[in-house]
Amino acid sequence: MSSDPLLQPYKLKHLTLRNRIIVTSHEPAYPEDGMPKERYLAYTVERAKGGVAMTMTAGSAAVSKDSPPVFNNLLAYKDEIVPWIRQMTDAVHEEGAAIMIQLTHLGRRTRWDKGDWLPVLAPSHHREASHRAFPKKIEDWDIERIIKDFADAAERMKAGGMDGVELEAYGHLIDQFVSPLTNELDGPYGGSLDNRMRFCMDVFKAIRSRVGDDFILGVRYTADERLPGGTGMSEGIEISKRLKQSGLIDYLNVIRGHIDTDAGLTDVIPIQGMANAPHLDFAGEIRAATNFPTFHAAKISDVATARHAIASGKVDMIGMTRAHMTDPHIVRKIIEKREDEIRPCVGANYCLDRIYQGGAAYCIHNAATGRELTMPHIVAKADSRKKVVIVGAGPAGLEAARVAGERGHEVVVFEAASDPGGQIRLTALSPRRKEMMSIIDWRMAQCEKHGVTIRFNAWAEAETIEAENPDVVIVATGGVAHTDVLSKGNEFVVSSWDIISGDAKPGTNVLIFDDAGDHAALQAAEFLAGAGAKVEIMTPDRSFSPEVMAMNLVPYMRSLQKLDVTFTVTYRLESVEKNGNQLIANVGSDYGGISKQRIVDQVVVNHGTIPLDDIYFELKPKSTNHGEISQDELIAGLPQTVVRNAQGQFQLFRIGDAVSARNTHAAIYDALRLAKDI
Ligand SMILES: Cc1cc2nc3c(=O)[nH]c(=O)nc-3n(C[C@H](O)[C@H](O)[C@H](O)COP(=O)(O)O)c2cc1C
Ligand code: SF4
Repeated sequence: MSSDPLLQPYKLKHLTLRNRIIVTSHEPAYPEDGMPKERYLAYTVERAKGGVAMTMTAGSAAVSKDSPPVFNNLLAYKDEIVPWIRQMTDAVHEEGAAIMIQLTHLGRRTRWDKGDWLPVLAPSHHREASHRAFPKKIEDWDIERIIKDFADAAERMKAGGMDGVELEAYGHLIDQFVSPLTNELDGPYGGSLDNRMRFCMDVFKAIRSRVGDDFILGVRYTADERLPGGTGMSEGIEISKRLKQSGLIDYLNVIRGHIDTDAGLTDVIPIQGMANAPHLDFAGEIRAATNFPTFHAAKISDVATARHAIASGKVDMIGMTRAHMTDPHIVRKIIEKREDEIRPCVGANYCLDRIYQGGAAYCIHNAATGRELTMPHIVAKADSRKKVVIVGAGPAGLEAARVAGERGHEVVVFEAASDPGGQIRLTALSPRRKEMMSIIDWRMAQCEKHGVTIRFNAWAEAETIEAENPDVVIVATGGVAHTDVLSKGNEFVVSSWDIISGDAKPGTNVLIFDDAGDHAALQAAEFLAGAGAKVEIMTPDRSFSPEVMAMNLVPYMRSLQKLDVTFTVTYRLESVEKNGNQLIANVGSDYGGISKQRIVDQVVVNHGTIPLDDIYFELKPKSTNHGEISQDELIAGLPQTVVRNAQGQFQLFRIGDAVSARNTHAAIYDALRLAKDI
């Protein structure tokens, strides 16, 4: 038996967990009609196959109709969920993992214009900043109803074969009762700590009396809200002790912080550039104070830190949740001593930010996650070996090379630069985004393992490619910054990439015109303001940086507000003129009737990239398919069979930003779904 602390079994009441790594509850927003159907099943089972001890599914499954599914939550209040849950629990158990589900009433942390359009409720009228709904103040008959709803939902989950349920308290209705900041009730549920905890205890009692003792019951709660007037650390420890002493639950899942604002949420679930494992010691303090089974997750994305968390006795089970979205097979790789092959979570938080915008959770650099029904985590070997030539070693090119290599093809990559990475190398120049380079480093290591040849400083011409005698050519040359968007004065502007790369010297009074709305504008602003410039970001959009999304915006705002960067929305830079050492920026508005000027010494334009596609168009007439991709075959997961030119020498495909400016995930998905069928 292994001596690895992470691989030791753990006895949780009657349940033996096969190791110490769990996937904590999270809602990837994969439900269909509020039910965990085939897609959800495939996603969950993949992690069980990968060796995790327990997977906790359904972050925040709703127990009541007035907990509307704001991020496409499972509807645990419907009886029809039971067979779907049974299908999932059977399949996960088959793989040797335990499975629990998280139940909640979101309280004010949702919106009334979802689901059945019922008023949102809470123990006060205080609005939650993130979801914006003004809640109804909860009444006695609401409380009775919701306690029963929790018990009914728990019973459904037991009937569906779950090993247990976890209550999502933090930030949701249960903690809205516990926190003095959100509880303004009189009577038995308001005032003293006893009273504020009464709802939580009543829910536990109701559940326990319904499900009996041989069912795991846990709670995920904040033991320190880190808000003035909120639940502080000493009260949090007292709460933890009372939870244990209730005798109603089997473990504590410790959270530190508050989630009512984007900034608060980002401190609870840190993203790239923020400290690793920031609350692990705190979870250890709770465990020491309670001597009770303690679980915890918060940016423990590497195996060494997870191992330390267990070996040091800080927690009993360690959550590696986003890490498992990036690589579902972490435990298997630990067991097989292939830790170095784990695809690293880079904390990009594309997954979580997307669900708060109503999308499904996708991992920025594993396009198979959430697409298990169509995309492989492990690529199958091809029937016959082909020669595949790829132009460009950015994320799209390297993903194509990795996948083609894993399929057993002979792969040659041409890269004009001296290093791989393309735009990722640029974005990683911001210290806070340097984890992004792991997207490239992991692919380089995988390419090496699969014998891919990469030629750097190699500017590929059509003849160079033809000389390789390829069966397939994939053009993944990316794009170049596109600044040619003004009616006059394009020659006077620089791009955000020029600023980030250091190719353009920072000005002192700078206007950034951002109508791409992505990271590059904010990164450029940070470089410029950090160098002492006065910076204004202007966008014609209704809000700034729409592509950066909520949690990713937090660290930027923390930095840019301190640097006094200003934001102007709904104005459009139209032209630039030179006036001595200065530039006159002429500003209009899509709403009409406005003409303003800014006098600055530098104008930066952030307008995405324009494809670098010369080589593609040179090769097009020489290919069998003239570059055409059959969308039907691509979507159906079939090999490409288009022939437009029977005399052609090779199949030709173009992927990523070489087609049109999109993002890293799109580039990697383009590559995976094409190359897996070559
Ligand atoms: C897409 C997504 C959805 C999540 N939804 C929930 C949720 O509904 N309930 C919950 O307690 N935590 C939720 N989480 C938080 C995770 O359980 C976990 O605490 C968090 O990701 C930090 O752990 P990690 O750094 O290992 O990912 C979610 C996380 C992700 C990535
Ligand atoms: S999107 Fe980023 S944070 Fe989310 S799982 Fe993937 S690498 Fe990790």
